[in-house]
Amino acid sequence: MASVVIVGTQWGDEGKGKIVDLLTQDADVIVRFQGGNNAGHTIMFDGKKFILHLIPSGIFHENKKCLIGNGVVIDPSVLLEEIDNLEKNGIPVKPGRLLISERAHLIMPYHKAIDHGREAKRGKTKIGTTGRGIGPCYEDKIARRGIKVGDLLDEALFREKLSEILEEKNFYLEKYLSCEPLSFDEIFDAYLRMGERLAPYVTNVSVELEIARGQGAKILFEGAQGTQLDIDHGTYPFVTSSNTVAGGACHGAGVGPTTIDFVMGICKAYTTRVGGGPFPTELSDEIGLHMREKGAEFGSTTGRPRRCGWLDGVVLKEAVRLNGLSGLAITKLDVLSGLNPLKVCVAYELDGKRLEVIPGNIKEFSSLKPIYEELPGWQEDISQVKDIGELPENCKNYLRFIEDFAGVPIDIVSLGPVRDQTIVLRNPFKGS
Ligand code: IMP
Repeated sequence: MASVVIVGTQWGDEGKGKIVDLLTQDADVIVRFQGGNNAGHTIMFDGKKFILHLIPSGIFHENKKCLIGNGVVIDPSVLLEEIDNLEKNGIPVKPGRLLISERAHLIMPYHKAIDHGREAKRGKTKIGTTGRGIGPCYEDKIARRGIKVGDLLDEALFREKLSEILEEKNFYLEKYLSCEPLSFDEIFDAYLRMGERLAPYVTNVSVELEIARGQGAKILFEGAQGTQLDIDHGTYPFVTSSNTVAGGACHGAGVGPTTIDFVMGICKAYTTRVGGGPFPTELSDEIGLHMREKGAEFGSTTGRPRRCGWLDGVVLKEAVRLNGLSGLAITKLDVLSGLNPLKVCVAYELDGKRLEVIPGNIKEFSSLKPIYEELPGWQEDISQVKDIGELPENCKNYLRFIEDFAGVPIDIVSLGPVRDQTIVLRNPFKGS
């Protein structure tokens, strides 16, 4: 297969980073298409720990190209810090290896100030954003007043756009959010300098992808967050501000739907969520604690403890439909060892009625009661198992249940954080 999209099927943090890292070995080009530095994963390379928020982990492989598409929102200070940190540690980030879309929108200091100011003002009803300015940046993009990476390369245009927008932002910051106004000169100078440094990387990513495809390159589209955080299809308003579903790869990178060959959904063997919003299968007991501790469920961007709960099959089915999944990767299965029985939510109950799909109304979604199917657990440590046939019978049974319920084959099973703790049944780039 030439083009593979990877998406999260839940509320993010499904372990996409590890699967992306695994499949990157067989890809030539790796592309980010949405989100920004609200995402993040930790990569161990040469015994050193790296946390990447924007640059695809393909950067650790010498002969791969890493692309940041137009759908991503870029905080240039974070991007430059990542580039500097990689280079300082001997990983070259040369233009030509990293390519950035001229059309990607920039996260500006006022986006971060507004994100924080709004969350503080909302108090109890806050979204629990990552505070990185993601939502306010996408807002400006849609309102047609955003500043794009390419704008930084034209000083006069950048000056004009910034002076027009900053007046409005400072009014909003001061008068509505009771925050300090921001200085035009400071932002202008800092961003212009950063623009000069980024210039050699800036290009038309859609054209680059067309060229790569023409040369027969294998392209991996790396989704961030998860299906239930999608701005259109997720648990709105407790979502991020981009389209996290597979279709986002098309408009967020500039490729047509017919160029996508395979969509892989990453699904944790249980569920986690960070930030606010309803979570029907959430467990606030010792089982949830087991998942958090054994699964090290703390955010890699904000360090916040993640909320944990049973696998929600309805959420998984939504992901199958919304992404058109071709295959599944089940991650963190090892975390469930020792729990018995296991539960999977197969439907919800609302006012005495059984629901098989997620209601669009957030009030209704907040009132759902999960209907569970119980499955027997296993006690064995499975973290070193290399062959699917060697998993305990109840573990195989759990996987079969997920596969049957979702109606999509399980292609990868992950049993721990390290690359060789993975059973690959079918590699989408190889077809076997
Ligand atoms: P924002 O993307 O910072 O605006 O945050 C909106 C919501 O999405 C919050 O609930 C965040 O916790 C959640 N979120 C954003 N990025 C991630 C991620 O990479 N993993 C999990 N949750 C995320």
